[in-house]
Amino acid sequence: MAETNIIPVGMVSSPFKERGDAPRQGRLTDELSKITICPEFADALLGLSEGDDIFIFCWFNRSDRSVLQAHPGGDETRPIKGVFASRSPNRPNPVSLTLVKLVKIERNILTVRGLEAFDGTPVVDIKPYSEEFDIPGTE
Ligand SMILES: C[S@@+](CC[C@H](N)C(=O)[O-])C[C@H]1O[C@@H](n2cnc3c(N)ncnc32)[C@H](O)[C@@H]1O
Repeated sequence: MAETNIIPVGMVSSPFKERGDAPRQGRLTDELSKITICPEFADALLGLSEGDDIFIFCWFNRSDRSVLQAHPGGDETRPIKGVFASRSPNRPNPVSLTLVKLVKIERNILTVRGLEAFDGTPVVDIKPYSEEFDIPGTE
């Protein structure tokens, strides 16, 4: 297998400290979080603007990487699913995906609305949402 080497590009500061503080999906909160981009990656922010919709990919450092199946949302009344068929934070590579609103950019600090990551979560990538590429087709 080819080597996979992911490095953090930034870190989340958020009001969510513990499991139970954070909503299941970022869309369910209006809370603001900050993402501090490491200075060596600040040039990669060129082209982002306040008001943009952006995808945040975090490394969920508090996940259980041994989990392969779970009840969605931890709700035991729902049929168990493989983690590749769910949005469980627990998975072999705990990469999370959240579409957020970019509220403010101040140098290397982004303020975003709608992120459900715990305070101190590493950020591993950011990509812009694109109507051209991200709306599913009909087939
Ligand atoms: C269900 S996951 C969804 C994440 C993302 N929107 C996705 O679909 O990939 C969100 C939950 O992960 C948990 N979480 C947040 N930050 C985490 C971290 N750093 N490590 C492990 N779990 C985390 C919180 O309990 C939060 O409610």
